[in-house]
Amino acid sequence: MSINPPIAMLAELTHRCPLSCPYCSNPVELTRRDAELDTATWADVFRQAADLGVLQLHLSGGEPVSRRDLVDLVVAAREAGLYTNLITSGIGLTEKRLTELDAAGLDHIQLSLQGTDAEMADRIGGYRGGFARKMDVARWIGEIGFPLTLNAVLHRQNLHQLPRAIEMAVEMGARRIEVATVQFHGWALLSRDALMPTREQAREADAIVAEARARLKGTLVIDYVPADYHSDYPKRCMGGWGTTGLNVAPDGLVLPCHAAQTIPTLHFDNVREKRLREIWYEGAAFNAFRGTEWMQEPCRSCERREVDFGGCRCQAMALVGDAAATDPVCIKSPHHGELQERADAFAAGEAGFTARAAAG
Ligand code: SF4
Ligand code: FES
Repeated sequence: MSINPPIAMLAELTHRCPLSCPYCSNPVELTRRDAELDTATWADVFRQAADLGVLQLHLSGGEPVSRRDLVDLVVAAREAGLYTNLITSGIGLTEKRLTELDAAGLDHIQLSLQGTDAEMADRIGGYRGGFARKMDVARWIGEIGFPLTLNAVLHRQNLHQLPRAIEMAVEMGARRIEVATVQFHGWALLSRDALMPTREQAREADAIVAEARARLKGTLVIDYVPADYHSDYPKRCMGGWGTTGLNVAPDGLVLPCHAAQTIPTLHFDNVREKRLREIWYEGAAFNAFRGTEWMQEPCRSCERREVDFGGCRCQAMALVGDAAATDPVCIKSPHHGELQERADAFAAGEAGFTARAAAG
C-alpha cells in the first residue's frame, strides 16, 4: 500500500482553556501545563512537518491563545513555510495581540461560536461575558482583514439558532462557516442526553443548509457535518485514517485523530522520541487502520469501503467496543437499529450537561 504524505497538521498547543464547552474534543484526561512542549520543540515539529509535506498548520487547543508564546510559534511556522490557521474562541485575544499575530504572518482565523446570543453562548461555554468579548474580537478580525471562518458546533440546545449563525457569518464577512453537529467522543459522550439532536432537528438542519448553500453561493461556503447518529451512512472520518492529517497533542504524542486515545489497543509515539516522518510512515497507530486490510464484514466486501473507510474508528470503539468494527451509524452494521433507538432515547433526555473540566 502506498502512503501519501499528510496535508494538514493540527497542533494542540495546550489543553488549557477559559471555556468549558460540554462537547470539547480534548480527552477527558487533560494534559497539564507543565507537560506541554516548549517553544523550541514546537518550532522543530513545524519544520519536520513542512519537510514531511504538510501544507496547512491548524493551531488549536484547548485555547491556543492561552500560550504566551503564540506569536513566536506563528513566526516559527511561517518560517517553516506552513500556512497557519488559528482555531480560537477569541477569549484572551486583544486588538494588540491580533495586530502582533498579523505582523507575525498568521494567515487565517477560525472563530468558534457557542451560540448566537449571550444567553446561549455564555451558558454553553460556561463563561459569563464571553459572547460580548467574542463579538469585539470578530470586529477586530474584520478590521485587520484576516480571512475568517466561523465554526458553529450545533446540538439539541442551539440547533434552532442555525439560521442566525449563518447570517452572522455573512455579517462578519466570513468566507466560510463550518456547521458541525456535535460528535460524540470524550466529553460529549458524558452529555449525550443533553446534546443529542432530535431526528426532526437533524432533518431541518439539512434543509436549512441546503437552502443557504444555494442562496449564498459565491458569498459564503458552508461546510456541514450532519448529525450522524440519525444518518444511514457514516462520515469518512479524518478523510481516512492516516491518509491526510495528523494531530500533535500538547505533550507531543502524535495521534491519527483527536479521539484516538480512546482506543486502548493503540500505542502512540511522541515527537520527543521520534521524528515525525518515522511516526507517520512507520508508527503502529497510523498503520493500524490504514487502507482496507484491517476491515471486518460488512465493510470488507462493501462497494463503499474506499468512500468512507468504514466510518469512524473511535465511534466504533465507543459504541460497540471494537475499533475495527463497522461504524454503527452505517445501515449495514448489525448495531445500526439499536443505535437509532438509542439516539431517539438520548434526544428525549434531560437538558443538563457535564461541563469540561479545567486543565491544570
Ligand atoms: Fe461504509 Fe462499511 Fe457501511 Fe460499507 S459497510 S457503507 S464501508 S461503513
Ligand atoms: Fe477518531 Fe473518527 S474521531 S477516527
